[in-house]
Amino acid sequence: QYCMPEEGVKLTPKPQLLTTEEIITLVRLFVKEGVDKIRLTGGEPLIRPDVVEIVAALRKLEGLKTIAVTTNGINLAKLLPNLKKVGLDMINVSLDTLVPAKYEFIARRKGFHKVMEGINKALDLGYNPVKVNCVVMRGLNEDELLQFVEMTEKKPLDIRFIEYMPFDGNKWNFKKMVSYREMLDSIQQKWPDLEKLPAGHSDTAKAYRVPTYQGQFGFITSMSEHFCGSCNRLRLTADGNLKVCLFGNAEVSLRDCLRSGAMEEQLLQVIGAAVGRKKKQHAGMFNISQMKNRPMILIGGFFFFI
Ligand code: GTP
Ligand code: 5AD
Repeated sequence: QYCMPEEGVKLTPKPQLLTTEEIITLVRLFVKEGVDKIRLTGGEPLIRPDVVEIVAALRKLEGLKTIAVTTNGINLAKLLPNLKKVGLDMINVSLDTLVPAKYEFIARRKGFHKVMEGINKALDLGYNPVKVNCVVMRGLNEDELLQFVEMTEKKPLDIRFIEYMPFDGNKWNFKKMVSYREMLDSIQQKWPDLEKLPAGHSDTAKAYRVPTYQGQFGFITSMSEHFCGSCNRLRLTADGNLKVCLFGNAEVSLRDCLRSGAMEEQLLQVIGAAVGRKKKQHAGMFNISQMKNRPMILIGGFFFFI
C-alpha cells in the first residue's frame, strides 16, 4: 500500500542491474574511502539469487564493520542460516500488522506467517536486536501500537514505528500520517514511565523502552522531526545510481561510469561531486509531498554509512 504503486512497477531488465562484480567493485571503493556499514535493502534484497554470494564477498572487505539487510521477511527463514554463515550482522524486517488478514491487504500478498517465522529464526540464530519496521497509517494499523510494544517484553526486538512518507504513486496524504508525538502519547497512556534511551550515532530512530522489558521500540520521524542534520547515508540503487538523499530524484549513474571504463580517480570525482550536492535537508525540498521521487520499491539497492 505504501511502497509500491497499485499497478506495480516494471521489472528492470537484467542488463541494467549492477552485476555482482560491479557491486563489489563499487563497495570496495566506498569502503576504502571510509564507509564502514553497508545495508542491502529494497525493493526486496532477498529475491536476488546471488545475495548470499554478495554478503560473502562484502565480508572479505577489510574496513567494513557491519553488513545489514532490510527485508520483507518472506524468504528470511529459508536464507538466514546461509546468510549468517557468510557473515550477515544485522536484520531489519518490515511488518506493519499482527493481523494476518490485514497483512494481506497492506502487502497485497499472503505471507504473514512466513514473516513471523523469519523474525523467530533471526532470534533463534542469536541476532540481537532484531529490528522490526512498522509503517503506521491512520485507519489501518494505528490501533496496534500497544500489541507491537508488548512483543518487546520477552524478546530482544526493536520495533520501529515509522511515520508514513510520500513517494510517487503511494497515495500519501497528510491525514493518513500518524505523527511521532501522537504515537508516543498513545503508548504513554498505557506505560506512563517509559524510559528514553540515548541516541546512537546517526540513528534513524528515537528509542524508548518499557522498564523491565527485554526489547525496545522507537520512532522514525522523517516527517514530523527530520534527522537530516546527522544523516550519514548514501544510496546505490540496484540499477547503479548514486542517490545522496532518500528523497528527491537527483541521481548519478555509477554503473555507466564503470561501464565506460572510468578509473578509480574519475569515479571518486563523480561521487565527491554528488556528495557535495547533498542538501541540508530532504533533498532541499520544503514540501516533500510535492516532489518527484522513485517509489520506495525502486530506491533500495544498497546503502552506505560513512
Ligand atoms: P539501521 O539504523 O541501520 O537499523 O537502519 P535504518 O533504520 O536506517 O534502515 P531501514 O532500511 O530499516 O529503514 C527504516 C526506515 O528508516 C525507512 O523506512 C525510513 O523511514 C528511514 N530511513 C532510512 N534511511 C533514511 C534516509 O536516508 N533518510 C530518511 N529521511 N529516512 C531514512
Ligand atoms: N513510508 C515510510 N516507510 C516506508 N518504507 C517503505 N515505504 C515507506 C513509506 N512510504 C519502509 C519499509 C521498509 C523500509 C526500508 O522502508 O517499511 O521497512
